[in-house]
Amino acid sequence: MLNYAATSSFNCHTKRFTAPPPSPGYNLHPSSLSLSSLSSQFHHNLPSISVYNHTHFNILPRTKGLKVRCTQNEPLKVMISGAPASGKGTQCEMIVQKFGLVHISTGDLLRSEVAAGSEIGNQAKEYMNSGRLVPDEVVTNMVIGRLSREDAKEKGWLLDGFPRSFAQAQSLEKMKIRPDVFIALDVPDEILIDRCVGRRLDPETGKIYHIKNFPPETEEVKARLITRPDDTEEKVKSRLQIYKQNVEAILSTYSDLLKKIDGNRPKNVIFGEITSMLLQIQKEKELGKSENASKLDSQFNKSPATKENWRGIPTNLNNIPHSREIREYFYDDVLQATQRAISDGKTRVKVEINIPELNPEQDVYRIGTLMELVRVIALSFADDGKRVKVSVQGSMGEGALAGMPLQLAGTRQILEYMDWGNDGAKGDFINFGAIGGKEVDERDDIFILVAPQNAMGNCIIDDLRAMTDAAGSRPVILINPRLKDLPASSGIMQTMGREKRLEYAASFEMCYQFRLLYYAGTQYPIMGALRMAYPYRYELFKRVNDSTGKEKYVILSTFPSRPTGDEVNDAFEGRTRDKNKNSSGFWGFMNGIFSA
Ligand code: AP5
Repeated sequence: MLNYAATSSFNCHTKRFTAPPPSPGYNLHPSSLSLSSLSSQFHHNLPSISVYNHTHFNILPRTKGLKVRCTQNEPLKVMISGAPASGKGTQCEMIVQKFGLVHISTGDLLRSEVAAGSEIGNQAKEYMNSGRLVPDEVVTNMVIGRLSREDAKEKGWLLDGFPRSFAQAQSLEKMKIRPDVFIALDVPDEILIDRCVGRRLDPETGKIYHIKNFPPETEEVKARLITRPDDTEEKVKSRLQIYKQNVEAILSTYSDLLKKIDGNRPKNVIFGEITSMLLQIQKEKELGKSENASKLDSQFNKSPATKENWRGIPTNLNNIPHSREIREYFYDDVLQATQRAISDGKTRVKVEINIPELNPEQDVYRIGTLMELVRVIALSFADDGKRVKVSVQGSMGEGALAGMPLQLAGTRQILEYMDWGNDGAKGDFINFGAIGGKEVDERDDIFILVAPQNAMGNCIIDDLRAMTDAAGSRPVILINPRLKDLPASSGIMQTMGREKRLEYAASFEMCYQFRLLYYAGTQYPIMGALRMAYPYRYELFKRVNDSTGKEKYVILSTFPSRPTGDEVNDAFEGRTRDKNKNSSGFWGFMNGIFSA
């Protein structure tokens, strides 16, 4: 049964971000240094805090406002740390824009104080200019006051440059203020010095530049750039030394939440990694696992034993149609894996997602779910300024042999009529086409191919190959391809040798796979699931009922590559594989599933 429900159950709205109004400067008097008074003053007078809308499902429009409507959820709390010039400020700019968190930078706050000539500023100036830390109580009160403001509670916060000493960390611990994740940017010393000395700031926009790495866009901007007084080589060395003296004590406070990130890479690559991590945490919070959301598992360098605590997969997958939350979970999961693969430079990737609504072999298959998934991915890349071509194969063959897979009938029209937002995504950034070499426009940046597949007597692989040849080094993403050899009575499919065809089909690297596991060819009950999200391992889950009768998925094992049926059977039976032995017994049924 085909269910044409492309837009009915997952509304797509667009929403534009608006920049926050400029904040006034603020002044603090010496008498105001008690916590409560500081806190209330910060409620009214803080400078340079960037606040954008906070949403979960960030498919979203930095540049063009191509935003899919999102659900509000438990706000994120993030700490970012690193040596001077490790890139904290640079990453914060992007994180704030994407996640709408309230950015609290102690360096920026202090510099505003200095610029305003306040009492605090006058005190802080001397310390800052000599590269030393400003006294703990001054900075701690400032931060705690800022964190207690409503916007930080509602939108979540991004704490940059705090805590910077053991005492500061302990102050937060005592008040039970903890982040979901503690990000530590790691950059070699010699690079830090060059970054500091070359740094320039735009006093009008607050944007951070570097004379070599990120030069200003125009002569006008260049003319107004300033250098920080603490950015001389000598002062940087002293700041670095102070950082090193303190860092261990701080890291030990947050060892359970620590995520070290290699900060010596292009800033967008670093941001991609941070984004994936924060989206994952957000998703966990939304799924009601907030207590564990900050415990990152092996996906982010921790032991697999904790994995089931923080990352499960949705339950109730037997309930059809799937709930909106379940669909959003999978759209988001696929999106993140795809983004990671493309940002790692992969150009030929495939997604195979076989939840019941996306499995054409099941009678609950919904073309609308497939279309929504494609929309989420396409909008996300369009949001990053990419021109996306979404391609659905047209009719193949001629005369009596003409045809196309039933599953794709009407798909192109559905794509055309779907809600792509009001901000010009469709047409400007997202275009539709068929599959073939002629479909490739030189302006296209990325191609999403919707369920390309052979049809009886017709082989899509020739067209696919022509298209990928024309696409060259531009990424091509296959969503639920079915490129297995099909029998052809007429031999028409033999336009290319069988072996070559299969080799070509296999040249697409899996970037996401999800399938449910069933017993003996039935579709009920679900026995378990297999999931892989690039670049991580295949995870094998078993579905179990807990003591209250509620189902959950527990992880049985992980594999570096797709497990064979025998490996899956062994994991379910809890035995080590004897490679010479064929599987048998209760779980022996699973072999067939994995032979494809
Ligand atoms: P603060 O302003 O926090 O300075 P910092 O920690 O030394 O960090 P920076 O701002 O120098 O660097 P960043 O990591 O933000 O790097 P950025 O993105 O700009 O603090 C200043 C002073 O205030 C302290 O010394 C202290 O006196 C006082 N203070 C602050 N907090 C305090 C606290 N909690 N307690 C006590 N005192 C406190 O990048 C640097 C450059 O590199 C830029 O030019 C950028 O364009 C470039 N760059 C960034 N990323 C990349 C990349 N991936 N590749 C190449 N170049 C890059």
